Amino acid sequence: MMAISIQQKEFFIRDMGPDDLDEVGSIEQIASAHPWRRSLFQSCFDGGYHCMVGCVGDTVVGFGILSLAASEAHLQNIAVSPSWQGKGYGRELLESIIDQADQLDARVIFLEVSVENSVALSLYIAHGFREIGIRKNYYTTPEGKKNARIMRFDFSKTSGLEVLTKMIRRTD
Ligand SMILES: CC(C)(COP(=O)(O)OP(=O)(O)OC[C@H]1O[C@@H](n2cnc3c(N)ncnc32)[C@H](O)[C@@H]1OP(=O)(O)O)[C@@H](O)C(=O)NCCC(=O)NCCS
Repeated sequence: MMAISIQQKEFFIRDMGPDDLDEVGSIEQIASAHPWRRSLFQSCFDGGYHCMVGCVGDTVVGFGILSLAASEAHLQNIAVSPSWQGKGYGRELLESIIDQADQLDARVIFLEVSVENSVALSLYIAHGFREIGIRKNYYTTPEGKKNARIMRFDFSKTSGLEVLTKMIRRTD
């Protein structure tokens, strides 16, 4: 009998393109307990947010979206398609997002995560995010409103203003 060898396709991350929005929207619908509408992905994309997709071959299996304002990054969304979860792809996406925020010179990354989302919570904690507060009734789900944990990742970078203040103090 002839042995058939199926080559394992590798996971890789690339920038999201306009052609990915349908697949990204579909992943969101099946992965998230409180899914974004497709138009929200379009606005992030059009608004110049940092949008990436995780792929296996030609298949988009996950995505991550990061925004940045005044050295503060915000992880807007991250998801892996349910049939591809538990393989380390969410971790790869999060690490890529943290790298991207670092390259953009962010000092912190903020995110919100449902108090009921223990999988995402353990992923964030394992990567150094810490809870800094609770946003009440942040998510609307078919079961009602849910609170969110606000989490922060700190790059411990000094801001331009702090550098300037230190220089001024030194010359006093
Ligand atoms: C959160 C999510 C992106 C993780 O993606 P994933 O590819 O399944 O995760 P990974 O396989 O990379 O696992 C990363 C970590 O997540 C946690 N995790 C994954 N599956 C888990 C499970 N079944 N139970 C508990 N923790 C789990 C673990 O901390 C794991 O790290 P470890 O393998 O070192 O223990 C994915 O579950 C998802 O898309 N969820 C729905 C959308 C969502 O909730 N997004 C977050 C919005 S704030």
